Amino acid sequence: MAPKDKTDRAGGRGPRHVAIIMDGNGRWAQARGRPRLFGHHAGAKRVREIVEACPDLGVKYLTIFAFSTENWKRTQVEVAGLMSLFRRYITKEARALKAEGVRVRFIGDRVRLDKKLQALMDELEELTAGNDRVHLTIALNYGGRDEVARATKRLAQDVAAGRLDPETVDEETLPKYLDTCVLPDPDLVIRTSGEARISNFLLWQSAYAEYEFIDTLWPDFSAQIFADLVLAYGTRERRFGGVKA
Ligand code: IPE
Ligand code: IPE
Ligand code: MG
Repeated sequence: MAPKDKTDRAGGRGPRHVAIIMDGNGRWAQARGRPRLFGHHAGAKRVREIVEACPDLGVKYLTIFAFSTENWKRTQVEVAGLMSLFRRYITKEARALKAEGVRVRFIGDRVRLDKKLQALMDELEELTAGNDRVHLTIALNYGGRDEVARATKRLAQDVAAGRLDPETVDEETLPKYLDTCVLPDPDLVIRTSGEARISNFLLWQSAYAEYEFIDTLWPDFSAQIFADLVLAYGTRERRFGGVKA
């Protein structure tokens, strides 16, 4: 792992990669007597502040769960509203993200998304490809099991084509086929809204992540809460199956 800057607020002990399950938009809206989409719009507005907080906290990689492979089960109105929000979000935020030095990537299966959204995603990735200040990864139509299944398919194709010797397959092999192949594993996974489950997020990658489940609903999440969680992480002792040094 690359050495971290000791001058960041976490003194170099903070997580390098934080992943967030942004949950609770619907309940936040319902509590205000508003439609669920009102909560999704409020939630989308929280993202910029969290991305901007990253460099000072030494967080180089931020991965956010925006839409799961299971979220298609929601009403057509909610799904269409979310897809329209993603299109608008990318269009509106592109310039600021580029200017802020954010490199944006998308993970998940793009094929089921509409062509216009796919094009916007490709454009944003290209536009920010030269950036390196913060790496923001947006999980859109993402499911951990779906990702492993897609990766396995491509791995099997490489074996069938004679490009990969099955005898050489080990735990370093599969990650090369995952959507996250260029990213380090998350060190800290945060889920808002009080649910203590991971809902199919980064299953392979989070094998040794630390978890924080907090009650705050995503539209109420703030840079201050984020900083508190990042700083608290620095006091945890990760053992990776070993014993205390
Ligand atoms: C998370 O908020 C955003 C998405 C899953 C798209 P929810 O929409 O799941 O909000 P709750 O859990 O119903 O409150
Ligand atoms: C997980 O939240 C997916 C996202 C935050 C995008 P859900 O609200 O879909 O998860 P469940 O249904 O409570 O497990
Ligand atoms: Mg939810």
